[in-house]
Amino acid sequence: MTSKLEALIDRSTRLNLEDIDFGSFVDHPLDADSLRCLRYMHDVESHTVCYLRDLLVTRAHADPEVTAFLTCWSYEEHWHGEAIARVLTAHGELAGFPSVKATRRALPRVDRMRPLLYLAGSAVSSHMVTVHMTWGAVNEWTTQAGYGRLAAKAGHPVLAELLRRIMKQEGRHIDFYAGQARRRLAESPAAQRVTRSLLRRYWRPVGSGLMPREEVRFLVHHLFGDADGEKVAARLDRQIDRLPGLEDIGLVTGAVQMMRSGAGSCTSEDQAR
Ligand SMILES: [Fe+2]
Ligand SMILES: [Fe+2]
Repeated sequence: MTSKLEALIDRSTRLNLEDIDFGSFVDHPLDADSLRCLRYMHDVESHTVCYLRDLLVTRAHADPEVTAFLTCWSYEEHWHGEAIARVLTAHGELAGFPSVKATRRALPRVDRMRPLLYLAGSAVSSHMVTVHMTWGAVNEWTTQAGYGRLAAKAGHPVLAELLRRIMKQEGRHIDFYAGQARRRLAESPAAQRVTRSLLRRYWRPVGSGLMPREEVRFLVHHLFGDADGEKVAARLDRQIDRLPGLEDIGLVTGAVQMMRSGAGSCTSEDQAR
């Protein structure tokens, strides 16, 4: 095991919430759009173990460094979901197990077949672990940036501190996924071609396979649709583009443009009309 991975596993822990004043949300509640983003983030964080279900049927399960990381990753993401649940609960919203159960029940039947897709991909190509590591890096980068944008837009100091702590852990997830992606892509031009092709065709913002399209569109528009959000999206693309074989792939700005060009409402106020 590399010393970097050892350090990451050593530092893996449940998110510290001891001094987070969740009661402050009662006197100073968040705006409707921030709460809508948090409902999305809660459901996606809580779905991590289901992504793990899909990953473990691939050759990723044979790599002990990858499985050691995934064990800690899934645990930390679970507590991100629980932390956000406490914010939602402070606002009188449904959160935690009942909400997660409802979200999973709403998944289309085809979701049950997802492990078979991953299994088939893994059988057909020896580069699927590289694809998953790169996909993970992109998802962690965009998730961390999304939290940063939400903290900036919500303007609530208690939420900002909570999200800062979550973002710090997302940073360690980025270190692992991006490090794996960089190394594996650099070793194989064929892996670069497969990864680039699959990302271009199938990558969508985190949570797209779980949340209703309207919610995905809202989240992307709210967090990345203004001038500051566009700058963050461009910065994310510069990070992704630096991975071997992914030059000028433009994933994030492409996704923002696609969501902005789609029909439908983009704010809570619009939806209420
Ligand atoms: Fe997370
Ligand atoms: Fe993460």
